[in-house]
Amino acid sequence: MEPISNRPGIQKIKSADKRKKVCEALESLRFTENDVKQMMKVFEEQIDYANSLNEEDRKKSDLFWECTYVSDLVKGNENGRYLGLDLGSTNFRVVLVDLKDGEAKTTTKYYNLTDDQLSGPAELVFDHIAASMEVFITEEKIQSQKPIGVGFTFSFPTVQKSLKKSILVTWTKRFKCTNGPGLDPCILLEEAIERKGGLSVPVNVMARISDTTGTLMAGSYYDKKCAIGLILGSGSNACYVEHLKNFKKLDPKEAKSDKILVNCEWGAFGDNGCLDFCRNEFEREVDQYSNFPGSYTFEKSFGGFYLGEMFRVVLVKLTKAGVLFDGKGSDELMTRWLWKSRQVTTVEKDNPGSSENTMSVLKQMKLDTIATEEDVLLVQEACYLMSQRAAYIVATALAVLLNHINEPEVSIGIDGSLYEHHPRFHHHMTTLLQKLVPSTKFRLFLVKDGSGQGAALVAAVESS
Ligand code: GLC
Repeated sequence: MEPISNRPGIQKIKSADKRKKVCEALESLRFTENDVKQMMKVFEEQIDYANSLNEEDRKKSDLFWECTYVSDLVKGNENGRYLGLDLGSTNFRVVLVDLKDGEAKTTTKYYNLTDDQLSGPAELVFDHIAASMEVFITEEKIQSQKPIGVGFTFSFPTVQKSLKKSILVTWTKRFKCTNGPGLDPCILLEEAIERKGGLSVPVNVMARISDTTGTLMAGSYYDKKCAIGLILGSGSNACYVEHLKNFKKLDPKEAKSDKILVNCEWGAFGDNGCLDFCRNEFEREVDQYSNFPGSYTFEKSFGGFYLGEMFRVVLVKLTKAGVLFDGKGSDELMTRWLWKSRQVTTVEKDNPGSSENTMSVLKQMKLDTIATEEDVLLVQEACYLMSQRAAYIVATALAVLLNHINEPEVSIGIDGSLYEHHPRFHHHMTTLLQKLVPSTKFRLFLVKDGSGQGAALVAAVESS
């Protein structure tokens, strides 16, 4: 990353003393070449540990590196109707995929969870899922004598025991349910359906997958070269196609081919301190006041659930250093977790020289009346630099996966609101990846709602 002082908005600051203070305050947003190299090395080491057959070695890694037990990508000859359920953010989704010789017709509906459901007993969440399934079935007039295959995208850290069986390790993101860890999400779902007295059509819950696996599956439906599914939403994670010989944890006799779909579950990368060399004060502060301090280090450095708060923390630092908002700010600036990633993506939508979107955010945060022209530029630069760092971190980890895949052409399917709405994330990721994997022709593409659609596609692939 170029020196902070090179940024055009920083160069426009008139006072040399102020410029110096700004550069000092923002210096830790730089993700240097050395950070990139070191992170790739550490990631590779952690993969080795996570992959080890020796349990003591495995404990040295915070990566789950789970076999998904999904036997194949989408082949293009699947038929039938399947349901996908997608739980991972407050936006629970039900997806119907109707396949005719591999051509999919998809219907998606959203059923938001309330704060009470997110912090009460886990059964409330699963009752909501069962109730939403029934609403969907009724509204879509689905009828069937035969059980409809269901794939369940459940995007929390779990240990995967088979295609269907998995055990929740901990809730993450906005979920703070009073129970759940140690339990199997598919069983919780089946119990909730039973509590309802069943659904109006029979269903067969076939698989629990992660949203990354769903995205990879949906990505492979759209693009046969897709070998990575990436989530850049509230949280982050990736699933990719690994050579079986590189995945030591699975007995090759259990494998269905020489390739295996691996759910990296990379959010917790760094929880053991291996990323301390590049963590900055902003990441540490976001973590300290988050739902689960000391966990999900990697995800917290760029996940959408955290980026708004990080932006706020950066602006508070500049304010306290006396170089922004006349050193004063507003109550809204000082309120933790009030800023969301939407504020980040909105500011980023301003092109150089324009400030309409930034002003709308400053207005929401009661900062518009005190913001000078230089303040507006500084807010934009801080947002740019923080976003660039975030995108570079993701690209660094992706480069390691691309090296593992080691194919001349690879497409990366991406789902999640951060990637979808951030106008520069794609560009920053592409720029760094081109440097890190120059011999791979890669393509990053949006797979909207891929995580839920992919769950239904898993059910289809496993049924065919
Ligand atoms: C969190 C979850 C992970 C999920 C990711 C993206 O990191 O633990 O399972 O894939 O968020 O939603």
